[in-house]
Amino acid sequence: STRGASMAVIIKTPEEIEKMRVAGRLAADVLEMIGPHVKPGVSTEQLDCICHDFIVDVQNAVPAPLNYRGFPKSICTSVNHQVCHGIPGSKVLKDGDIVNIDITVIKDGFHGDTSKMFFIGQPPLRARRVSEFSHECLKLGIEQVKPGAHLGDIGHVIQEHAEKNYYSVVREYCGHGIGREFHEDPQVLHYGVSGTGLALQPGMTFTIEPMVNVGRRHVRLLPDGWTVVTRDRSLSAQWEHTIAVTEDGYDVLTRLPGD
Ligand code: MF3
Ligand code: CO
Ligand code: CO
Repeated sequence: STRGASMAVIIKTPEEIEKMRVAGRLAADVLEMIGPHVKPGVSTEQLDCICHDFIVDVQNAVPAPLNYRGFPKSICTSVNHQVCHGIPGSKVLKDGDIVNIDITVIKDGFHGDTSKMFFIGQPPLRARRVSEFSHECLKLGIEQVKPGAHLGDIGHVIQEHAEKNYYSVVREYCGHGIGREFHEDPQVLHYGVSGTGLALQPGMTFTIEPMVNVGRRHVRLLPDGWTVVTRDRSLSAQWEHTIAVTEDGYDVLTRLPGD
């Protein structure tokens, strides 16, 4: 049983999982498409525009962030010390920046949500390291997923790996169930204790999306009401996949073939 908010975790049928696989693949395709455009001199609103047009005109899909709870753009772009939910705008990317691009598309009623880090030119070693490290944290989290495992197992491996390496993990934002809704139950924390929390079952679909900071874990919300930044202005990095729990493990619904 749970206290407080009810945990209405929606188990997907195999047919629904196939629709989520299509949405997930489309979201991954957007990240692949935008790669060559992410270079010095491009503004984050130009990247937003390219992704928007690709999702709408080529994929015949819907960019989920646009007008989601008032979010004004179609993708999130979070640069350097921005942690997540950065609003694309006139900011021009320059050599040495790192940027997370977070793509969520809706296709045939289902969501696919994925993000990755991009390097602009040659970022400093500490920037490249935290970007690669957050990807490692994501992979470790994913490897915990199987029926009978607990959500706390995912949070635990991520927190332990990060803190052993003198990084910190953001606590105010987390992964989430996903399906017909952008954000469903359960919350998927990126810190925690093994063997605690919800036990996983086949047909559950959720994201894992650890935000890892070079400095302290604390964050602040900018006056725009969306952009989350590190309080100490240290670099932050995030990668995200949408995962389905299968009979014997996991499926990464936002994986590109060959990845
Ligand atoms: N894609 C983000 C996530 O991983 C959510 C963005 S909400 C938005 O959950 F409104 F900022 F788009
Ligand atoms: Co996302
Ligand atoms: Co997400």
